[in-house]
Amino acid sequence: MGSIDYQERIPNNVDLQSDKRLQRALEAWQPDFIQWWMDMGPDGFQQDEVYLRTAVSVDKDGWAQFGHVKMPDYRWGIFLTPFEGERKVNFGDHMGDEAWQAVPGEHRNTLRRIIVTQGDTEPASVEQQRQLGHTCPSLYDLRNLFQVNVEEGRHLWAMVYLLHRYFGRDGREEAEALLERRSGDVDSPRILGAFNEPCDDWLSFFCFTTFTDRDGKYQLRALSESGFDPLARTCNFMLTEEAHHMFVGQTGIARILQKAAERMKEGDPRDFGAIPVDMVQRAINFWYTVSLDLFGGEDSSNAANFFGAGLKGRDRETELTEHTGLGQIYTLEKYDAEGNKQVAELPLRRAMNEVLRDAYVADCEKVIKSWNRTLEKAGCDIELTLPDRKFHRAQGVYAGLPFDPQGRFVGHATYEAKKDEWLINAEDKAYLASIMNKPHYAPGQYADWISPPPRGINGQDIDYEYVRFATPRI
Ligand SMILES: [Fe+2]
Ligand SMILES: [Fe+2]
Repeated sequence: MGSIDYQERIPNNVDLQSDKRLQRALEAWQPDFIQWWMDMGPDGFQQDEVYLRTAVSVDKDGWAQFGHVKMPDYRWGIFLTPFEGERKVNFGDHMGDEAWQAVPGEHRNTLRRIIVTQGDTEPASVEQQRQLGHTCPSLYDLRNLFQVNVEEGRHLWAMVYLLHRYFGRDGREEAEALLERRSGDVDSPRILGAFNEPCDDWLSFFCFTTFTDRDGKYQLRALSESGFDPLARTCNFMLTEEAHHMFVGQTGIARILQKAAERMKEGDPRDFGAIPVDMVQRAINFWYTVSLDLFGGEDSSNAANFFGAGLKGRDRETELTEHTGLGQIYTLEKYDAEGNKQVAELPLRRAMNEVLRDAYVADCEKVIKSWNRTLEKAGCDIELTLPDRKFHRAQGVYAGLPFDPQGRFVGHATYEAKKDEWLINAEDKAYLASIMNKPHYAPGQYADWISPPPRGINGQDIDYEYVRFATPRI
C-alpha cells in the first residue's frame, strides 16, 4: 500500500476504478478544474516547464518525485494516508466508537460545511497569487510559487473527492461552486476574509505562506483528528505538502531580512532597493491578524458542536489526556466599546476555536524568534514582534475595537491616526511595486531586495534552471 496508480486519468490511491460512478463524476469535474486552472491559475506560465515535486506515493519516506513539467500536465490526484482499520473516534460524545467510514446522517450538513470551507481556501490562494510570476525575484522563487500553487490545486482535489464520494448530489453541486467563486469578487467572493485580500507583491506572498498557510496547518491538524476517517486521512496527507508552503514563506522573509540587515550597515535599505525591517513588521501585522480571524469566534456554539460530534478535534488531540472537553472552563478577556475589561468564563467546548488559535499563536511566536535570530546574526539589533491577538481584528469579540499592536485599548481616534504606522500602507505598497517592477528570470540572478537562499530545492544548486521557458524571456 502506499503507491499511487498513475495509469489512471486521475492518479489515486483510493481504488477509484472500483467505483465507476464516482470515477465518471470526477472525470466530469476534471475539465472544469483544468479550465479554472487556465483561467485563474498562474498567469502566463502554462507552457513553461517547472521543476515540480509530484506526489507519487503516500509513504512517509520518498513520497515525492521531482522533474520538469508543464503546470497543466501536473498529475493532480487523490491521495489519502492508508486506511488503518482500527481507528476510533478519539474525542467528544462518540469517543470510543469505531471511526466512521461513511458520513453519519446526523452530522451530514455540518461535515459538508467543514469540507466546503476548507476546500474554498485552496483555489482562493491560487487566484490571489496568480500575477506574482511576473515580478519573481529569481527562478528559484518562481518555482516555489508554482509548487505552492499546484499543491493548493491538489488540496482542492482532495476536498472535492470527499464531496463527490460522500455527499451525493449536494456534494457535486458544492464541488462546482468551488470553481465558481472568485477571490476578491464583489458578487461571488471566497468564503473567508483573508482569502479575498489581494496578494500582489512578494512580501505579501511570503507573509501569506507563513501566516495564512499556517492557519491551514492548524485547521488540517484539527481535522486530521476527525472521527470521520476519510477526512482525517485526507488532511493527514495534505499536511505533508503544507510544510513546504510554510518553509517558502518563512525562508522568504528571512532572506528579505538578511538583505535589509546587510544594507542597513551602509545606510537606508531603501536607497539600495531593499525592504526596511519596519515595513516587514507592518506586513506581518497585517497578514498575521487577518489569519487570526480565520479561526472563527472565540465563543462558538459551532465549535462546541464540531468537537462534541467528534468531527473536529484540538491540535494533537490524541496526545492530550482528556478528550471530552466537559466540566472545564476557558477564561477569555472581553472588552466593551469603552475599553472596559470583563473576564468571561466559557465552557471549554465553546472555546475550541480559541484553543486552536492558542496553538497557532505559539507556533507563530517561534517563527518570529527565528527571524530575530536571522537579524541578530546579520548584526541588526531591531527585533520583530508578533502583534497582540486583539489588534486589527475583524472577527470575534475584538472585532472593530481599537487596540494597538501591544494589545492596549487606544480609542478610535488614536487607532485611525496610527493605523498606517502599524499596518502595511499605501506608501509601502507603492514602494514595493517600484522595487518589484520586473522579473528575474536568469538562473542564479536575484532581485536587490532578497538574499539568495542558502541551498536549492531537492539538492539542486541555487542557480539551477528551475523553470525552463517555452520561449526565451531574457
Ligand atoms: Fe492547502
Ligand atoms: Fe498551503
